[in-house]
Amino acid sequence: MTTFCNIIMLLITIFIAVSILSKPVFSDPQINLLNKGCSQYNATNIADFFNNLNATFADLKNQLSQQNKLFATSSDPVYAMVQCRNYLPSADCVACFNAAVAQIRNCSAANGARVIYDGCFLRYESNMFYNQSTLPGNAQICSNQTGSPATTFGAQAQALLKDLLLATPRINGYFAASEREVSPGSKTVYGVAQCAETISKTGCQDCLNVAYTNIQGCLPNADGRAIDAGCFLRYSETSFFPDNQTTNITPFLGGGGSSKKKAIIGGVVGGVGLLVAILALFLWYKLSRKPKAAQKGSILGATELQGPAIYDFKVLKTATKDFSEEHKLGEGGFGEVYKGTLKNGNIVAVKKLNLTSGRAKAEFDSEVRLISNVHHRNLIRLLGCASKGAELLLVYEYMANGSLDRFLYGDKRGYLNWKQRFDIIFGTARGLAYLHEQYHVSIIHRDVKSSNILLDDDFQPKICDFGLARLMPEDRSHLSTKFAGTLGYTAPEYALHGHLSEKVDTYSFGIVVLEIISGRRSNDMAVEPVSEYLLEKAWKLYEADTHLKLVDETLDPNDYKTDDVRKILEIALACTQSQPSHRPTMSEVVVMLSSDRSFEQQRPFRTTVVGSDRRFYRNISESTDTASSNSNATASFTEFTGR
Ligand SMILES: *[C@@H]1O[C@H](CO)[C@@H](O)[C@H](O)[C@H]1NC(C)=O
Ligand SMILES: *[C@@H]1O[C@H](CO)[C@@H](O)[C@H](O)[C@H]1NC(C)=O
Ligand SMILES: *[C@@H]1O[C@H](CO)[C@@H](O)[C@H](O)[C@H]1NC(C)=O
Ligand SMILES: *[C@@H]1O[C@H](CO)[C@@H](O)[C@H](O)[C@H]1NC(C)=O
Ligand SMILES: *[C@@H]1O[C@H](CO)[C@@H](O)[C@H](O)[C@H]1NC(C)=O
Ligand SMILES: *[C@@H]1O[C@H](CO)[C@@H](O)[C@H](O)[C@H]1NC(C)=O
Repeated sequence: MTTFCNIIMLLITIFIAVSILSKPVFSDPQINLLNKGCSQYNATNIADFFNNLNATFADLKNQLSQQNKLFATSSDPVYAMVQCRNYLPSADCVACFNAAVAQIRNCSAANGARVIYDGCFLRYESNMFYNQSTLPGNAQICSNQTGSPATTFGAQAQALLKDLLLATPRINGYFAASEREVSPGSKTVYGVAQCAETISKTGCQDCLNVAYTNIQGCLPNADGRAIDAGCFLRYSETSFFPDNQTTNITPFLGGGGSSKKKAIIGGVVGGVGLLVAILALFLWYKLSRKPKAAQKGSILGATELQGPAIYDFKVLKTATKDFSEEHKLGEGGFGEVYKGTLKNGNIVAVKKLNLTSGRAKAEFDSEVRLISNVHHRNLIRLLGCASKGAELLLVYEYMANGSLDRFLYGDKRGYLNWKQRFDIIFGTARGLAYLHEQYHVSIIHRDVKSSNILLDDDFQPKICDFGLARLMPEDRSHLSTKFAGTLGYTAPEYALHGHLSEKVDTYSFGIVVLEIISGRRSNDMAVEPVSEYLLEKAWKLYEADTHLKLVDETLDPNDYKTDDVRKILEIALACTQSQPSHRPTMSEVVVMLSSDRSFEQQRPFRTTVVGSDRRFYRNISESTDTASSNSNATASFTEFTGR
């Protein structure tokens, strides 16, 4: 009798334990870590940073606990976002947030970080990121066991996910939880989809499309999750949200998808099988709660940088026929570029770097890592790198049309029409604005020029060679035209005094624009009877209101409007003003280019400093291309001052 009672007691105990554990969602912040990452860049003012971060976290917590929100952002001055899965009760959401704060503080002074749990995610950055949807680093996290029965489970899970994918972007608040029967009366698959509330409907759709593709990699396993910057997708054989939190997604499915939704959690086991079933369930539950180790090193957003692909040196050597002369595409400030054909038929451009200083080599890795994470349609993609001893190779996407200078005053002169030229100007401005302001560290190009702007098959510009100037020795980079800055394109304050800012690129951009509209080299004096640099000429024509004379004579005069020429010229002149502070930022340039009206109120003005620009040009054009030593360069500048 006592034995029987003991067994009953045991059964009851186990039953209670199991029912508590197998419905953990009812009071469980779900802090099962899926992904985390810290930026490699530290905040500049650490003390302020920690104060700000604390204030930000306090603000977020206040929104969650006082206002019972499940999604909150805080923007002053650190940008932060927290989002709980909508099925979590408020208290669990706060608990999940607290855990995330403790976890994210491990990132110390990093200026960006994120933590993703099953129950919530938290991220902060120094830049605005609220509208990010899908980003490189998106991934899936799969459990190890196969769902059962494998084929039906996989098919039903996929159908459920497909419906979630369709419905969620259409639902206010971008959250849906749903379930689907796998085998009649006994098994169900559960799923949720969620997007950050700050992204657009299309952004949500895009992000979930990627997540849906990723999570396919988990099927037919029992559990799968897909993570990304702007969304989250999860399915499981185990219920992980309360029944009463199920969303009726049927109205949002529109024409597609069949949603046979039945909430079925039935007591099916009984009799002698109970103990066995409970124990099995218990074990299975414990196992399935243990997802595969959280993935590390994948990026979501700007916080963490993914390394470049590493190519085999020998493969690249073969692809470029041992760096043969016939495969050479050109020679830049940083080394020769070769065309390479990989075994799979892909054509790439291989740059052989000439780095002599030890410091440069030491920084090669971090710099290349930085560049390889730059993704913008107007910036050339770095595909990877290779090294062998002292030889360093960078592998870029290949642009068959080559560089812009060919089309302006090279063998393809006269090929580009006005519209194409405008698109090139606009795209280049956008690429630079991204480098300066939208990438998580500001990258100053320092050597913007027509030969560094490549054209793709549609004649869209792709800027190349960005990020490399930082590998050049600091002490002489600004005085050597070979390294950073090229004759005729370099801002005077940089060339003369080494003052570096984003405005150095604005200046060079302005010069490139003048080249694009005139089809003339910025530093070519030979063609004119009166020797004048392009910039001087442009100013004169602008001031005399005869700016149409500047336009490339190969252009059809019916192709452009006088006002358009004037507007572009004004922008170019505004960019090349002597005072860096008078020049617009590149994002301002983008706005000017896209606005219809001319910007009379901001008419560029020429200052007396132009004289020193002239002096600067003369000097530079007479100095040789080989790096003149620091003192010589200074001396020759002094000489010209006295002219
Ligand atoms: C950031 O700061 C941490 C300590 O606060 C330090 O360990 C780390 O090296 C720093 N990282 C960089 C890139 O400066
Ligand atoms: C920020 O909060 C953490 C945890 O509450 C605390 O240890 C730290 O001293 C705070 N830092 C500042 C600058 O207030
Ligand atoms: C980070 O923080 C969590 C929570 O405070 C802690 O458990 C963990 O050991 C810390 N360290 C690492 C490397 O995650
Ligand atoms: C996100 O917001 C920033 C700043 O408001 C904006 O510059 C950017 O274009 C937006 N991106 C998308 C994808 O909407
Ligand atoms: C999952 O499966 C893989 C290969 O089948 C194995 O290497 C790994 O150890 C398993 N992980 C766990 C947590 O069981
Ligand atoms: C859902 O059910 C739980 C109890 O299981 C209850 O506490 C909660 O208030 C319910 N939520 C809604 C929205 O009905």
